[in-house]
Amino acid sequence: AAGFSGGAAAEDYPTRPISMVVPFAAGGPTDTVARLVAESMSRDLGQQILVENVGGAGGTLGASRVAKSDPDGYTLLLHHIGMATSAVLYRKLPYDTLNAFEYVGLVTEVPMTIVARSDFEPADLKGLIDYVKTNKDKVTLANAGVGAASHLCGMLFMSKIGEQLTTVPYKGTGPAMTDLVGKQVDFMCDQTTNTTNQIKGGKIKVYATTTKDRVASLPDVPTAAEAGLQDFEVGIWHGVYAPKGTPPEITAKLSAALQKALKDPLVVKRFADLGTAPSTEAEATPEGLKTKLTSEIERWRPVITAAGVYAD
Ligand code: MLT
Repeated sequence: AAGFSGGAAAEDYPTRPISMVVPFAAGGPTDTVARLVAESMSRDLGQQILVENVGGAGGTLGASRVAKSDPDGYTLLLHHIGMATSAVLYRKLPYDTLNAFEYVGLVTEVPMTIVARSDFEPADLKGLIDYVKTNKDKVTLANAGVGAASHLCGMLFMSKIGEQLTTVPYKGTGPAMTDLVGKQVDFMCDQTTNTTNQIKGGKIKVYATTTKDRVASLPDVPTAAEAGLQDFEVGIWHGVYAPKGTPPEITAKLSAALQKALKDPLVVKRFADLGTAPSTEAEATPEGLKTKLTSEIERWRPVITAAGVYAD
C-alpha cells in the first residue's frame, strides 16, 4: 500500500470517511457530544465522520486504540477529563498521555448531576448523604470504570462523605443509566448530557448539580453547595485528539471544522437543551486543548493521590 506522504495528502485531506473513537459505550454522554459535533464537522469537511464506540477500562482502551493508529488524520479520539485523570489513576497506561497525541481542540465542558433511581428513599442531598452513610454496605454507586467522569465524581463524593461504597462499573453511563432507570443500581454522578432527558421524564431522581451556579436547563435543581455539600464542583471538559505525528496542516483543518461546528446553531441549541455550551474559538484550538490537558493532570494529581485511588 502507498506509504503516507504528508504534504500532498494533507492538502487534499480528507479524501475518505474519518473514524472518531468514543472510548465509552454508545448512548452515553461522550457519545452524545461526539455524534453532535461529528455530524456538523463532516458537513464542513465534506467527508463522513463515523463515531466508533470503543469502551472499557474507563476510557483508556479507546484512547490506546487511537494512540496506536496511523497518524493520517483518519482516526480521531473524542475524550473528556478522563484523559487527565487516567494519567494519574493508572500506574501503567498503554500510551504516554502527553506524548501519544496531537491536539485538535476543546469541545465543551459539561456539568454533572447527582442522580438516583426514581424510588430512592432520600428526599434531598443531605438526606442522601445520611442515608448512604447509614446504609454504606447496601448502597450501590454506578460509574463507567476507573478514569470515567462518573468515577471521578463518585470518588470525590466518597471522599467528601468519608465512606467507601460498592461501585458498579459499566462500559459507559449509557448502559449504567439503563440500570438506574430500571432500579438495578441506586445512584450515580453523571453528566447533564445523559441525565437531562431522564430527569425531565421523571425516570430518575436528581439531587444537585456539580456547578457553581444553577444549570439554566435544570432551573429547579440546586447546586451541591446550595444543597449542603460545599466545594463539590467538577466540569467535564471534552477534547478531540489525533495520533502523534498527524501533520499540523491536518489538525489545523480539523480544528477549523470543529470551531465551525461549535457555532452551528443546531449544535449550540442541542448543547443548551442538554445543560452545556460550546467551548470558545480560542479553546477549540490545539493550543487550547494542550494547555487544558497539561494543567488538569497537575490539578487532579494531588486530589487523586490524597484519595488513594489508583488502577493497576
Ligand atoms: C463517564 O462517566 O465518563 C461517562 O460514562 C462517559 C460516557 O459514558 O460517555
